[in-house]
Amino acid sequence: MHNFQYRNNELFCEDVPVADIAREVKTPFYLYSYETLKRHFRAFDDSFKGIEHLTCFSMKSNSNMAVLRLFANEGGGVDIVSGGELYRAMKAGVAPGKIVYSGVGKTVEELEYAVSSDILMFNSESGQELITLNDTAKRLNRKARVSIRVNPDVDPQTHPYISTGLRENKFGIDIKKSLEEYRVAAGLGNLVVTGVSCHIGSQLTRVSPFVESIRKVKELIGRLKDAGIHIRYLDIGGGLGITYNEEKPPLPAEYAAAIKEEIGKTDLTLILEPGRVLVGNACILVAKVLYTKSSGDKNFIIVDAAMNDLMRPSLYGSFHGIQAVNTTGRKRIRADIVGPICESGDFLAKDRDVEALAQGDLLAVMSAGAYGFSMSSTYNSRPRVAEVMAKGDSYRVIRKRETCEDLVKGEEIPEFIA
Ligand SMILES: Cc1ncc(COP(=O)(O)O)c(C=O)c1O
Repeated sequence: MHNFQYRNNELFCEDVPVADIAREVKTPFYLYSYETLKRHFRAFDDSFKGIEHLTCFSMKSNSNMAVLRLFANEGGGVDIVSGGELYRAMKAGVAPGKIVYSGVGKTVEELEYAVSSDILMFNSESGQELITLNDTAKRLNRKARVSIRVNPDVDPQTHPYISTGLRENKFGIDIKKSLEEYRVAAGLGNLVVTGVSCHIGSQLTRVSPFVESIRKVKELIGRLKDAGIHIRYLDIGGGLGITYNEEKPPLPAEYAAAIKEEIGKTDLTLILEPGRVLVGNACILVAKVLYTKSSGDKNFIIVDAAMNDLMRPSLYGSFHGIQAVNTTGRKRIRADIVGPICESGDFLAKDRDVEALAQGDLLAVMSAGAYGFSMSSTYNSRPRVAEVMAKGDSYRVIRKRETCEDLVKGEEIPEFIA
């Protein structure tokens, strides 16, 4: 359910005509619905009522500060993977005590920053990281709360690039070896062992892999208890999928019910790291047709948004719905919707049945809120696009379109060239 709906053949975001925003902001731009974001957060978070929990939005999926503030106002925390994300989160007003930090390659500087910020928990992904974290905390005369991100070797049945819980993936510590690492961590003076975490992948459309990994983690928690190591937080990561096309992922309530059933009665606090499911369908990318052409029986619709703005189709071959902003009476054609970038891999949709959009027409690339703007780049020296959020009948730019000056910011031509 989202708030991008047609009224008299015209696409609205909440109560604002998308074309009105395009007129003022120019294209391309990402457009978020405040209501959808809020509803998605509440639907997810409320599903876990009855079990002590903290919903830590996985901000790699979308790191705009307005989005972060909205979720923080709803009581959420964040899951971060870099010092930059920590900076953004705190600037957006997320309480450090609601921040968990995952990632295989945390630098010493990043660890220092997070230890000094007194975040809730580090999800450590290697034995060496545990030692480095302990050394860092010691230097700063602090204690760091830590969990080990275990790799449960469960197949999430998703795209290989977004599978993370298989032994061959770089993430986490092999669950079979994790007890040993926990013993080491428990003996390090500046670490407080508080959690177990796992995250097996993204865009999962079934609950069974989640349940399987929780079962394995529960066994581990039992063994830890026998070894005198008491766990307070169980972080089960994110990964719940959304509908881009015809996928039928479980609803948050179904996902939560299966998890609650597997966990049973517990005194653990559950940490959840949803990303995509909160933001994916709460945003569209609005673009304009620059040109159309055909070559043989192939039709091309060339638009002003490209792979640098939305990378998912090029990177994973992902499907995003393409809809005309104004849908009055065009015939339908099969076409590739492509951007201006000089790569054949630059496409938003391939061989797609779409309305025969013409020069100047606006289109909406649907379900663009997760791993959309946050993965965008300035490739081909294309300034990053604007982000806009609508609420009711008003809207605000929540990130300005970058300029050509932004593109060259920080660059210098050394005197030996000049
Ligand atoms: C550690 C961790 N937690 C949470 C997520 C969020 O996943 P999703 O956006 O699929 O919910 C990811 C993304 O892959 C992740 O790496």
